[in-house]
Amino acid sequence: MATTTAPGKDEIMAALATVKDPELHKDIVSLGMVKGVEIADGVVDLDIELTTPACPLKDEIENDVRAVLEPLGIPEVRVDFGARVRPTNPAEGQKAIEGVSNVIAVASNKGGVGKSTVAANMAVALAQTGARVGLIDADITGPNIPTMFGLSAGLQAQETTGLRAVERYGVHVVSIGFLLPRGTPVVWRGPMIGSAVRQLLHDVPWENIDYLIVDLPPGTSDASMSLAQEAPVAGSIIVSTPQAVSLEDAMKAVSMFEKLGVPVFGMVENMSYFIAPDTGNRYDIFGSGGAEQAADDLGIDFLGAVPIEPNIREGADNGLPLVHSHPDSESAKAFHHIAGQVAARISVLQRMGN
Ligand SMILES: Nc1ncnc2c1ncn2[C@@H]1O[C@H](COP(=O)(O)OP(=O)(O)O)[C@@H](O)[C@H]1O
Ligand SMILES: [Mg+2]
Repeated sequence: MATTTAPGKDEIMAALATVKDPELHKDIVSLGMVKGVEIADGVVDLDIELTTPACPLKDEIENDVRAVLEPLGIPEVRVDFGARVRPTNPAEGQKAIEGVSNVIAVASNKGGVGKSTVAANMAVALAQTGARVGLIDADITGPNIPTMFGLSAGLQAQETTGLRAVERYGVHVVSIGFLLPRGTPVVWRGPMIGSAVRQLLHDVPWENIDYLIVDLPPGTSDASMSLAQEAPVAGSIIVSTPQAVSLEDAMKAVSMFEKLGVPVFGMVENMSYFIAPDTGNRYDIFGSGGAEQAADDLGIDFLGAVPIEPNIREGADNGLPLVHSHPDSESAKAFHHIAGQVAARISVLQRMGN
């Protein structure tokens, strides 16, 4: 009978060198993702470093790793995933934001389509994967994020040290609303909005933030332009409802980002459909699939569809993002899917050298 010797590290590494990262199309050994191989008492411990903790392909990579090691006859393989998120490099004339690796803009040309809802839930979804996440409410004249996170308006009005982020549901949130009592009308002119955005980005003390999500006001606004000038934005997400009129507006947002040199990660269709809780029947209230078609026409990716869910509105009014309060709902899954897509897009862009 042939005796088999336990495989050594070289053999294991050789096997792992046949596993490809499904998105980067290179093997995980030459990508430097295998950070540790330890063999003790027949147990192999692998330490694999991903480019994002929100990696949607984690399970696929683990299955592939197990499949190539299986023929080596190792009694037990333990796979431990870590992540190191790399930063977006600033373009010429831009200043990196201290303490922040990647900025993600959430935009649309129309109000009320769910930008803030998508920004808030995507932020919580990313934080749930273990990423360090910040959220800037850049809707200077109509800040909604404090309400959505159950943070009282004006909570930092008395402070002399300036705005700082407050952590809620694992997300570091900051809003001009922290300085103003609820309902205070704000009349700001363009240059003031630009300087407010600059301060939210550069004057707030950020620490080790992997993803900083910026909830923009509707339109091709001063805030969007200031953001693109003031910071290296990794990319943007355009939110739309399925109606044509909203899509026309979304297309304007896409061309604005293209002009500003900010990559467009893709389109999210919000209020895409409704599942009746009593019958389970699906209703396409605004006509579904419009955003997907538009994304296709514009040559950008479709990142996902979020259904209409009464819990979303209720939660938003009561300071409970749905991803936190109803983690198993259809919409929470949609937000997680979108967050994973965006994190993966950032990883791929970085591997291509920004
Ligand atoms: N998928 C959804 N299902 C139910 N209500 C939603 C959904 N998306 C957004 N809403 C609600 O619609 C309103 C507008 O959303 P909001 O995120 O504030 O839009 P925007 O930031 O684009 O102006 C809010 O009351 C929000 O709770
Ligand atoms: Mg909003």
